[in-house]
Amino acid sequence: MLLTLCSMLHALCHENMADDMVSKLKDTGLIQDEPLLFEQGGEGRKGYSLPRWDVEEVEVRNLISPHLLRKGLEGFPQLSEVDVVRHFTRLSQWNYGVDSGFYPLGSCTMKYNPKLNEELARLPGFSAIHPYQPEELSQGILKLMYELERFLAEITGMDHVTLQPAAGAHGELTGMKMVRACLEARGERRKKVLVPDTAHGTNCSTSTIVSYQMVEVKSSEKGIIHPEQVARQMDEDVAAIMVTNPNTLGLFEEHLGEIAEIVHRKGGFVYCDGANLNALMGIVKLGDLGVDVLHINLHKTFSTPHGGGGPGAGPVAVKKELAPFLPIPVIEKEGEKYFFNQDRPDSIGKMRAFYGNFGVLLRAYAYILTLGAHGLRKVSEMAVLNANYLMKRLKDYYYLPYDRPCMHECVFTDRFQEEHHVTTLDIAKRLIDYGFHPPTIYFPLVVKAALMIEPTETESKEGLDRFIDTMIEMAREAEESPDLLRQAPQRVKVRRLDEVLAARRPKLKWTRKE
Ligand SMILES: Cc1ncc(COP(=O)(O)O)c(C=O)c1O
Repeated sequence: MLLTLCSMLHALCHENMADDMVSKLKDTGLIQDEPLLFEQGGEGRKGYSLPRWDVEEVEVRNLISPHLLRKGLEGFPQLSEVDVVRHFTRLSQWNYGVDSGFYPLGSCTMKYNPKLNEELARLPGFSAIHPYQPEELSQGILKLMYELERFLAEITGMDHVTLQPAAGAHGELTGMKMVRACLEARGERRKKVLVPDTAHGTNCSTSTIVSYQMVEVKSSEKGIIHPEQVARQMDEDVAAIMVTNPNTLGLFEEHLGEIAEIVHRKGGFVYCDGANLNALMGIVKLGDLGVDVLHINLHKTFSTPHGGGGPGAGPVAVKKELAPFLPIPVIEKEGEKYFFNQDRPDSIGKMRAFYGNFGVLLRAYAYILTLGAHGLRKVSEMAVLNANYLMKRLKDYYYLPYDRPCMHECVFTDRFQEEHHVTTLDIAKRLIDYGFHPPTIYFPLVVKAALMIEPTETESKEGLDRFIDTMIEMAREAEESPDLLRQAPQRVKVRRLDEVLAARRPKLKWTRKE
């Protein structure tokens, strides 16, 4: 009986499959649709079963003043424990994270975060500490932060570091505020900031928020900025140039030293967006290339959890000239004692409540200590090797606009697939059917229909090969059965969305169907 039912369902299922596209897809068995919690449950259902009270029951209304009591929660679901556990477990399974699989999101560095760092962050001596605890009782964490600042200064070749900013973009804001403060202290009111066309969008916003006019610098046909171009645009009205190195095409800005000299000659500052430091550790010190100020994304390079615009950490490193403007408090050491110095008259002020996101800083500190100098260099070497391996194996199948060795990420486009009317978006969506998180798409803007892949150093050769083989198979599909890509994804709970509508008119509130 059961067998017959199964074969009937199977037959029905096949009838419903419009073409062989769907029949190629195996059911994962994980995507089980279910009503929302608000649509489940029943009167009197509870999440616990306890023995009868052995004390007299008391009416809450007699104990708590009526104005403090809610009248009721209309429509609030009454559920059993298993209803709730299943619901949230399933939601967590519909999510995709770096702990579930390959996550090659270019410009975001979704590398695996070692669990050891999580364990350390949960030690009660760290997790239970109170921000108002006096300095004498906080010497351990002060020492940790002081040392982390020194490590980051050493890795980047800079003089001082602040750990306060909560994200990369927040670090940019902090750094550029220091540039502005320093120029003002010199009595200069410059108006412009140079930003290459390959920059991360946050660089443009930062320069504007700090009240500078952003002036775009066109990159050369090699995908990097050329000193001659900078020399043409640099003048005494330019406060700084903001250069990302390696840039968002995954290419090393090899003229940075020369560019820094041009900018310095006219009295400007060199801001380096050091978010991609994961490609440089132990190989290049950005400070040696004339950089005056830079930020680091701990979540990209030092393997701390990502948080949308925070709660992360985007420490900022500066050369001596900018040190007086660092945010307060600054951690200092006198003899064996660590303390917060608040007495810094030229400081730009406080950038973050207390001292930044300590839990994140702690994870980065543990990451640096466990790897050591040699291990950090290896991280960068592996990140660069993995990206170049992937680029080399895929470049016959996907168009590579800048065909030269890359750093930690590489950028393809859909140009080869265009004749089959398959786009970058289709390629990204089809990867979901194969169980991979898609890469970053349509960024950087300087490349039309970009497909930006960052494999990171934590992927094994087998893992990389699985992804590469899938991409090659998809290039074949684009030629032979392009609908497979155009109609992807088929194997997930939510198919292709109208992304414009989803962004413009998001449904954020559930309402009961009448
Ligand atoms: C090059 C670059 N700059 C800046 C940022 C902004 O960092 P955040 O997202 O932490 O604000 C990123 C983010 O990944 C980045 O890749």
